[in-house]
Amino acid sequence: MASVAIRDVRKAFGATHVIHGVNIAIDDGEFVVLVGPSGCGKSTLLRMIAGLENITEGEIRIGDRVVNNVPPKARDIAMVFQKYALYPHMTVADNMAFSLKLRKAPKAEIEQRVNRAADILGLRPLLARYPRQLSGGQRQRVAMGRAIVRDPQVFLFDEPLSNLDAKLRVQMRTEIKELHQRLKTTTVYVTHDQIEAMTMADKIVVMHDGIVEQIGTPLDLYDKPENQFVAGFIGSPAMNFLKGQVKANGGAGFVGPNGVKLPLATAPANSDGRPAVYGIRPEHFTIADDGAEAEIVVVEPTGSETQVFAKLGGEEIVEVFRERHKFEPGDKVRLKPDPTLVHLFDEATGKRLNA
Ligand SMILES: Nc1ncnc2c1ncn2[C@@H]1O[C@H](COP(=O)(O)OP(=O)(O)OP(=O)(O)O)[C@@H](O)[C@H]1O
Ligand SMILES: [Mg+2]
Repeated sequence: MASVAIRDVRKAFGATHVIHGVNIAIDDGEFVVLVGPSGCGKSTLLRMIAGLENITEGEIRIGDRVVNNVPPKARDIAMVFQKYALYPHMTVADNMAFSLKLRKAPKAEIEQRVNRAADILGLRPLLARYPRQLSGGQRQRVAMGRAIVRDPQVFLFDEPLSNLDAKLRVQMRTEIKELHQRLKTTTVYVTHDQIEAMTMADKIVVMHDGIVEQIGTPLDLYDKPENQFVAGFIGSPAMNFLKGQVKANGGAGFVGPNGVKLPLATAPANSDGRPAVYGIRPEHFTIADDGAEAEIVVVEPTGSETQVFAKLGGEEIVEVFRERHKFEPGDKVRLKPDPTLVHLFDEATGKRLNA
């Protein structure tokens, strides 16, 4: 196992700059998830850690060693991709043993490592099968088995679950997390799915257009997003944003679209009249007599909770209620955001304004 340090890393493909100076410190044994929208540079960064892409500028260390010029084979990492590309003419056991055979490991050691990985992943009964005789989830497990037998310093995963159906993804993400809790191997995991990031990570790195927007634990990012991008990216359904002005004199508050009055626990210093964006998560509303008047547009029950779309100050927002309300489209209700859970952002820069 080893730590990984990414320092001032940049990447350009010819004249196209795609990573613009990224710094990430990954502790020994940590499970770090890189998350962000398509094209933000997640795979490129992972491939630079793996040695599959050159590092244009900056430095990557695995343990104490700068690996910029170390070939992939010598980095002691194992990578699992979305397309796991098992060898179709080889059994599960041979697929898992392949890299060790290439390395000319002794036969007894190969057998012992393959059996250990098979036990960890519940693949023992399938060792003699061929990939075509496996389900998608089982194939994914074999791909992980191939990585585990190598007993690497670092696991690198690039969207390993995106070929699986929704139910299997949920099951496999728990399996991978459990696997990490057992093996405690340093892991860098790439996904564009924020739920996967939230549920699996010790630490999340939110990327956007080749930069890091924020690094933190899942709940840090949810509770205190440093900017509007992270606030909108983490959490589902996404945070509501309403433009308006902060009111600081005569009690804190916020004047939203069409003059709608919204509560605020405390206003930032010297912010009276300041244009800002009021952020409130769908799950942080209650129905209260002193709430703001809103009109119900659509009601979507899921059983455990209900998503309600409503118009507030002319803007459509979404709320999630765990308790059951008998709302009908067209109903007028009084919605109250929890003032202690409001996020304020600078209108121009998107930077967080409140503590
Ligand atoms: N070989 C290449 N040559 C030129 N541009 C590239 C190359 N590989 C990637 N890019 C560009 O670099 C940017 C980052 O790509 P990357 O594959 O790292 O994104 P990603 O975050 O993994 O996205 P996705 O979620 O879609 O996989 C994109 O704009 C992409 O077009
Ligand atoms: Mg990618």
